[in-house]
Amino acid sequence: MSMKLPFFKKKQTEQNDEQDPENMPEHVAIIMDGNGRWAKKRGLPRIAGHREGVKAVNRVVRAAAQSHVKVLTLYAFSTENWKRPASEIEFLMKLPKEFLHVYLPDLMDNNVRVETIGDIQALPAHTQEAVTYAKDKTKNNDGLLLNFALNYGGRFEIMQAVKQMMADLDCSTLSIDSINEETFANYLFTQGLTDPDLLIRTSGEQRLSNFLLWQLAYTELWFTETYWPDFDEGIFNQALGDYQQRKRRYGGI
Ligand code: FPP
Repeated sequence: MSMKLPFFKKKQTEQNDEQDPENMPEHVAIIMDGNGRWAKKRGLPRIAGHREGVKAVNRVVRAAAQSHVKVLTLYAFSTENWKRPASEIEFLMKLPKEFLHVYLPDLMDNNVRVETIGDIQALPAHTQEAVTYAKDKTKNNDGLLLNFALNYGGRFEIMQAVKQMMADLDCSTLSIDSINEETFANYLFTQGLTDPDLLIRTSGEQRLSNFLLWQLAYTELWFTETYWPDFDEGIFNQALGDYQQRKRRYGGI
């Protein structure tokens, strides 16, 4: 992908007038769904939907930065996605590199830091290299944290946390009495991040699909019928507006 797509710096300072800047979700997580159906509707191969989905990623990063969201976690590849045909997996594995090839300069200009959650060591070397390069290059940026969930599964994450805790108990760097929700959360990939305030899922499906199972305990859920490749700033701002109308009680009254 050599063509440079519209740069997002130009609109950086704009903010939607209807949003209350004091009540922004700090962390937004998105299950980007519907790429295949978007393509099918147009008589195109599924991969055309994924390619178009990359443009939607750029749009949502721009919108999140404009709204001063601090963390944007995008579900790009789940531990269950390995069940897909090899050719589709191969294509999906090229997308992080393609995205970063086009947009990394913009991410730098806009102070965006790239991170990942998930078991990236199981990804092809070229995918790992692209994300490791972007993480390193952006590591001192302190604006929006763009967090890609790659080879991520909530149950896998919890299980690896338990294994690591047991290993630490074994060598006495951890004691049973010191285990609480906070110490447990420090063993998750999301260590140090606040839990998502808002979860968006596109394409009309309403399930979690093994995403951030621990972290979503008190997250506000927001669903749209829109397929991911059609997702844009307007829909993102609609989700933020609806979030701001919600009363979060965390089990209280
Ligand atoms: C779900 O749609 C989408 C995915 C499993 C892949 C998501 C990936 C992207 C949007 C691009 C990622 C971009 C970067 C920069 C890493 P689906 O294929 O399950 O759609 P369907 O339910 O309609 O079949």
